[in-house]
Amino acid sequence: VPRFPDLSGCALVAPSLLARLRARLPARDVVPLHIGDTFLAPPPASQLPALDLQAGPSLYAYPSPAGDQALREALAEKLRQDNGMQWVTGEHVQVTSGATHALSCALRALLAPGEELLVSAPYWPLMRGIAHAAGVGAVEVPCGPVLLERAGAATFEAILEAAITPRTAALYLSNPGNPSGCVLGPAELDALAAVARRHRLWVLADEVYEQFTYDGRRHHSIAAHPALAGCTLTAFSFSKSYGQAGLRVGYLVGPAHIMETVRCYIHHTIYSVPPVVQRAALAALRGGGEFLERARTLYCRARDLALEELCVPCAVPEGGTYLFLDLAPWVRRAGGDCAMAVLEPLASAGVLLTPGAGFGSAYGTWARLCFTAVPEPRLREGIHRINEVLARLGTP
Ligand SMILES: Cc1ncc(COP(=O)(O)O)c(C=O)c1O
Repeated sequence: VPRFPDLSGCALVAPSLLARLRARLPARDVVPLHIGDTFLAPPPASQLPALDLQAGPSLYAYPSPAGDQALREALAEKLRQDNGMQWVTGEHVQVTSGATHALSCALRALLAPGEELLVSAPYWPLMRGIAHAAGVGAVEVPCGPVLLERAGAATFEAILEAAITPRTAALYLSNPGNPSGCVLGPAELDALAAVARRHRLWVLADEVYEQFTYDGRRHHSIAAHPALAGCTLTAFSFSKSYGQAGLRVGYLVGPAHIMETVRCYIHHTIYSVPPVVQRAALAALRGGGEFLERARTLYCRARDLALEELCVPCAVPEGGTYLFLDLAPWVRRAGGDCAMAVLEPLASAGVLLTPGAGFGSAYGTWARLCFTAVPEPRLREGIHRINEVLARLGTP
């Protein structure tokens, strides 16, 4: 029998806390607030039955590994106009199988096994696994409280600086943040640029929530900063922008010489993204303006409803689709030492939240709630159940 690797110590295959929660769920009437999804259907013109699939190049021949040319050119125009990346042409854009794949290819193109990726914490949980799968060390940078409480760009810079080691090659951050909801402002981007330049670092920017900022806040793309354009790869996603998560389309943009290496990884892993889903993505990009307006309005309303009705105080998300909740007072009351002490009774009451442990080592007693996963009445119902369970545990 061939050798089978010993994976027992590998975080990628650790038993999932969510599996434990799912085991507690009632048979019916579950409110899933754990997953980063949307209750909205994609723009009508981009839904598969609405596409004219007979027109254009064949859907059945091998497509170009870089992605459909019309889609890449439309994305380049969007990146120039909306994201301020004036230097972008189609050759800087790679279509990927979602942002997850974009980040995985970017990481492999930028870092050698054994090098370190700084990961701004709290972080999107899959990023750690993506780094590990590439043999790259993920080093947490404790940015959460700094950005959440707006301690200022100088502190942000000092915290990044303190995390650098001789093996640091790149820095990952999501902007707007998942799960923090922070939106980086010009001063924070200057601080990031100073550190990246001083230490010759790559920046891996995850901007999948670019469309969803609230209260008049603007999204500033990291790669639009003049000092960061040459050292930043940015991932975007049709899952988030247009509610097309099941189609698995995303894209990556960065300097041309690195995009050549990225294309090698695409070529040698999936070869290319299926043409039919690229067609749906292009239709969303061309006809999805109204969808974006509506989504922004409804998501902001859902955020406000969640903030108003939930009995857990938390920071107001400036963007994104999550509330990040410190459940420590209730965890203590339940006699536990991690959020599961609260999340298990919540699961029994039919509500799922994401355990905080996956977002960074400081967040074991925290949990994430996605306020766009279900329509408003279901969100209200989920929050009502959370409040009831927490009240049962006792008011802190
Ligand atoms: C911050 C962040 N990056 C990337 C992704 C992955 O997106 P995709 O569905 O395009 O792979 C997600 C999905 O939840 C996310 O929240």
